Amino acid sequence: MPLPQSFLDELIYRCDIVEVISRYVSLKKSGSGYVGLCPFHNEKTPSFSVSGDKQFFHCFGCGEGGNVITFIMKEENLPFMDAVKMLADMYGMTVPEDDGDTDAARRRRERLLSLNKEAARFFHSCLTAAEGREALEYLLGRGLSKKTIISFGLGYAPADWDRLSSAMLKKGYTKYELEEAWLARKNRSGGIYDAFRDRVMFPIIDIRGNVIACGGRVMKGDGPKYLNSGDTPVFNKSRNLFAMNFAKKTKSGRMILAEGYMDVIALHQAGFDYAVASLGTALTADQCKLMSRYVKEAVICYDSDNAGQKAAQKAIDLLNSAGMEVKVLHIPGAKDPDEFIKKNGREAFALLLDKPQSDSEYRLAVIKSKYALDIDAQKIEYLKAAANYIATVSSPVEREILSHMVAQETGVAAASMAAEVKRAFISGARREKKKTESEAMRPVRNIQPKENSLRYQNPRSAVCEEKLLSIILEDSDLLHKAGEMISPQEFSSEYLARIFEKALAMEQSEHEIRPAAVMAGLEDAEARHLTAILSEKVPSHDPLAEMTDYIRVIKAEKAKDNSQGDDRLKEILSRKREREG
Ligand code: GTP
Ligand code: MN
Repeated sequence: MPLPQSFLDELIYRCDIVEVISRYVSLKKSGSGYVGLCPFHNEKTPSFSVSGDKQFFHCFGCGEGGNVITFIMKEENLPFMDAVKMLADMYGMTVPEDDGDTDAARRRRERLLSLNKEAARFFHSCLTAAEGREALEYLLGRGLSKKTIISFGLGYAPADWDRLSSAMLKKGYTKYELEEAWLARKNRSGGIYDAFRDRVMFPIIDIRGNVIACGGRVMKGDGPKYLNSGDTPVFNKSRNLFAMNFAKKTKSGRMILAEGYMDVIALHQAGFDYAVASLGTALTADQCKLMSRYVKEAVICYDSDNAGQKAAQKAIDLLNSAGMEVKVLHIPGAKDPDEFIKKNGREAFALLLDKPQSDSEYRLAVIKSKYALDIDAQKIEYLKAAANYIATVSSPVEREILSHMVAQETGVAAASMAAEVKRAFISGARREKKKTESEAMRPVRNIQPKENSLRYQNPRSAVCEEKLLSIILEDSDLLHKAGEMISPQEFSSEYLARIFEKALAMEQSEHEIRPAAVMAGLEDAEARHLTAILSEKVPSHDPLAEMTDYIRVIKAEKAKDNSQGDDRLKEILSRKREREG
């Protein structure tokens, strides 16, 4: 969208090139023009010349040359428009609005914008109509409220080939416009068909409030999970961010940068209305610049998988280059922020965002987020849980501080809290430090294996079995001892028992233990889960004591199980019968 030539002529005329370049280079009169040392290459004798008559510069040494705008672009390392703006500012000129579109180009853009808006309305109306029932249920099922669905203008693109197209043609838009807006594609016979079909629709809205594009997600079946509009005359995906229309209003001074539409929407619904996402591509410098116009700080909150963490590394550099302060959030126990919030609630996410100073404060905060403190019974539960945790902290000073903190925030007398901690301390909570910690972390850690077939029947026992394995798979002495204390048959999880058995066999035959070898015969999903268990391991001061604790719990659970055995068996059999009809 070029600026009108008349404006550029005026700008070049008013910004005297000799005057402008003199701000950067010391110029000396020479003949009809000026000379100086070239700013674009290293030189000792001047070969850089500036002509006031012709209003251009040229270097005989390196060959650089051009007008005043070219000079500023090179010298200030600016894109064309920004160089123009800088010069206009210098000389008190105003750059024409609308990037100086010609009337025809402007009209074309306006029509595409109104087409996009009409399309978003159409999709939204389909969502609330009978044909959109499944889509609406899908969105509600993902935890979105009706209010959120309305404020993001979410919609449904019907499954037929031409519902949107024919509705828009009826409104007077052309086939060409539909295709240009990326809402329809051309088929081989020259007709068009809807680009988005049978998808949940996410309109993309720019900072001025225009609908400029959309993304669509499948609910089931094949095809790419998300389909996003390509670039159009009104949409450049590398220069826009999803939900920027809301986030730009934030007073928080920061923005959360997530990966997906659903993450952003879940964050907004949970009250973090300053979340944005790039549009199905890697973050760009332009997007960083856009953010930096509104806020100083960016909080990167990408998926917790490898790809997400790699992308985060790149994003840090880009955001830093745009002059922003950057924080990276790691999401424990969930794939992405959407899943984390669904699992742990908004409080827990707020805790992640403003992670308290010390590790123990953080752990306490996680425990706290599980209780509704305005209900007395819950408050008492929380006090007990907090005391149990504090009792496991090894430093007496820190115990004192934490216990004060909890007393203060719950309005309990400091002495009562201290007494509670003491009770917990004496009753041996300290010895069970690791177990309490893992319980404290439970809301942010999903102990169930991802694979359904591996689901634990007795999670309490399974956690201890996992921990036990993580200790003995690294220490053949402990493995040997464990073998004397407990048998695989006492495990609750058949899968973990199998690993234990393999490890024992290896220890017997080879007198050493190699976790990788134990893994060799496992199914993919099993091996993945085992890797996760092993990599979660925290070094222990007293692994033998810890191991003994785990074995005790496993045996206790087994005993409980046996006593209920008859009932359990009946239950399982009756469920099995139900399943088999
Ligand atoms: P769900 O929670 O499964 O709805 O997705 P998500 O929000 O967790 O998104 P995900 O992490 O899978 O992907 C992040 C973003 O990448 C999405 O919002 C899309 O913009 C984009 N994306 C994901 N899958 C595809 C795809 O198949 N094709 C294209 N072009 N983009 C995709
Ligand atoms: Mn997701």
